[in-house]
Amino acid sequence: MTDRKATLTLDGKDYDLPVLTPTIGPDVLDIRKLYGQADVFTYDPGFTSTAACESAITYIDGDKGELLYRGYPIEQLAEKSSHVEVCFLLLYGELPTATQLADFTTRITRHTMVHEQMTNFFRGFRRDAHPMATMVGVVGAMSAFYHDSLDINDRWHREVSAIRLIAKLPTIAAMAYKYSIGQPFVYPKNDLSYAGNFLRMCFSVPAEEYVVNPILEKAMDRIMMLHADHEQNASTSTVRLAGSSGANPFACIAAGIACLWGPAHGGANQACLEMLREIGSVERIPEFIAKAKDKNDPFRLMGFGHRVYKNFDPRAKVMKQSADEVLELLGVHDNPLLQVAKELERIALEDEYFVSKKLYPNVDFYSGIILEAMGFPTSMFTPIFAISRTIGWISQWKEMVSDPTGKIGRPRQLYVGAPAREYSDIATR
Ligand code: SDX
Repeated sequence: MTDRKATLTLDGKDYDLPVLTPTIGPDVLDIRKLYGQADVFTYDPGFTSTAACESAITYIDGDKGELLYRGYPIEQLAEKSSHVEVCFLLLYGELPTATQLADFTTRITRHTMVHEQMTNFFRGFRRDAHPMATMVGVVGAMSAFYHDSLDINDRWHREVSAIRLIAKLPTIAAMAYKYSIGQPFVYPKNDLSYAGNFLRMCFSVPAEEYVVNPILEKAMDRIMMLHADHEQNASTSTVRLAGSSGANPFACIAAGIACLWGPAHGGANQACLEMLREIGSVERIPEFIAKAKDKNDPFRLMGFGHRVYKNFDPRAKVMKQSADEVLELLGVHDNPLLQVAKELERIALEDEYFVSKKLYPNVDFYSGIILEAMGFPTSMFTPIFAISRTIGWISQWKEMVSDPTGKIGRPRQLYVGAPAREYSDIATR
């Protein structure tokens, strides 16, 4: 910790703000004592310039387009690792040994089933309920079943909740999908990989044997790795804020799922594919580019732009390469949506509006093309994002609740409402 400081001068008085130095990234002005000393708040409604916490899990350099999970570049992990190994890395901070990975994999595998009574929750939903609605409800309801792991101050409870959430989210998401198409739920199989198990729970039917396609299994596992964590994004910040009140981990993850659903966040993958489908052909791209640039038109290019990345989202690069590979291997040549996406990217990246605002494709731009080619409906895109991000949410939650200095999150405001005034009788109004 250095003794560097910044000085704020307000109404002729100086206030020292300590400068905190990160491992990498921008320095941070510590304003924790500012209100007590100067009786002023800082104002940053979108948290564009605010570090809400200290974390050692994920680092993003938006200018370089760099993403590190516990220091390891996402490109290397996507090529050489697996989602379960990335879960171990994010949760415990180091890559596992072979023995540790085998043990961790076994622990997750042994928790993939859900309590049989949880199947009743699904029957309360309409068949056409969005799977994200079902997941918010069922994941939140997990806290009604796992009373043996709700004490957030108990290290073992935190551990077993993390394992249960990592293990059961695929099962719950697959159940939400099966319920929406009127097919029976499929139990997990312990001899399958994490990604393979999810594919089988989604696509197998009792009438015939289901063999996991290794191409799809690898693509699914890579998609999960790419979405695993992403610093203090909206849904992770939601999980942290919910957790700061002492809420149980299942309730906190349900809050994260609810936030992820928004089209500005995790819902963008569904919105992006629906946009590509609406564009339909390369010829119509200029019409949509014009709409995206029109200040009076609320339309935005879904899958484009990012709060942090002002360069290519490294995940989008890997996803684009994976889309080419998967479609080729599946024998899907000249996929019209992929052609539209690539041409849209090319045109947008040459357009002054996008260049000046540093808008690039993000993680959601290509993911939907792969997921659709794998057989998923658009309504399952964000649930798959939620499955993948569960490890990020629970790792960030664990980091926060394990911090003995942690406090409940309670922002203040810039109040612009009415000053104090007397109540008036209705007869006089
Ligand atoms: C995710 O935070 C994370 O890390 C999220 C995520 C993760 O892994 O957790 O990476 C996952 O959520 C990716 C983002 C998915 N969302 C979309 O693809 C939706 C489309 N993108 C935008 O809505 C927008 O880019 C955001 C929400 C992603 C970021 O918004 P910001 O940072 O608040 O930026 P902004 O809205 O202030 O935009 C800056 C300017 C604006 O123009 P001006 O007012 O300055 O004139 O760029 C424009 C915007 O109008 N702009 C776009 C645009 N995105 C921003 N214009 C057209 N199309 C777009 N997509």
